[in-house]
Amino acid sequence: MEGEEIFPGVYKIGERIATKGGGGIRRGKTADGLRIWDPRRSKLAAAIMNGLKEFPIKQNSRVLYLGAATGTTAGHIADIVEKGVVYAVEFSKTSMRNLLESCREHTNMVPMLQDARTPEAYQYLVRGVNFIYQDIAQPDQSRVLEKNAGTFLRRGDKAILCVKARSIDAVKKPGEVFRAERERLSKSFEVIEDINLRPYHRDHRLFVLRFKG
Ligand SMILES: C[S@@+](CC[C@H](N)C(=O)[O-])C[C@H]1O[C@@H](n2cnc3c(N)ncnc32)[C@H](O)[C@@H]1O
Repeated sequence: MEGEEIFPGVYKIGERIATKGGGGIRRGKTADGLRIWDPRRSKLAAAIMNGLKEFPIKQNSRVLYLGAATGTTAGHIADIVEKGVVYAVEFSKTSMRNLLESCREHTNMVPMLQDARTPEAYQYLVRGVNFIYQDIAQPDQSRVLEKNAGTFLRRGDKAILCVKARSIDAVKKPGEVFRAERERLSKSFEVIEDINLRPYHRDHRLFVLRFKG
């Protein structure tokens, strides 16, 4: 089945979405070279399914991806930024093994075994970053994003932050946690979109942000 392009590099096939791999052998490719993007395995795919209005990642974006895990979402972003690069930061050695495998299939994805809390340790290993995607599920995630944005982004550049309510406060109601996060983020960023990821990811939100510089 033919896919309809809904954002540059993102396709809709019936009720599903997909990205287009470049060359190489990619797992799960359809006959026309599209790779199905599962919203249950990727918060960005869930945000698209839930009506993300403006897709902030361009084909030439240079992405710093914090919390790449095994490279599921990072790999789809690497498909999209065919003229750009994805620096995939992950601090778990166990995940790194699979991430390396995913990087072998995406020549524009660079694996980095680093702690996102210390951008000073990797700032000289990356070049021209103009977008940050962060999904580290840590209580101090806003501070980590602010630190990385201050190191890599210019005023007006965009970022995506995935927020899991329980990893910030397991007792407070998710709505309260999200409100507090949004307020905190609005000191350094303008919140462009704020998307609930139900039913794909419970008590998760995805924020699209513009750095105030
Ligand atoms: C929810 S998972 C990410 C899933 C992934 N973004 C995806 O969609 O395919 C969170 C990941 O962040 C990593 N992580 C947490 N804190 C980190 C830190 N300070 N630096 C780097 N990675 C971190 C964890 O090891 C874990 O693999």
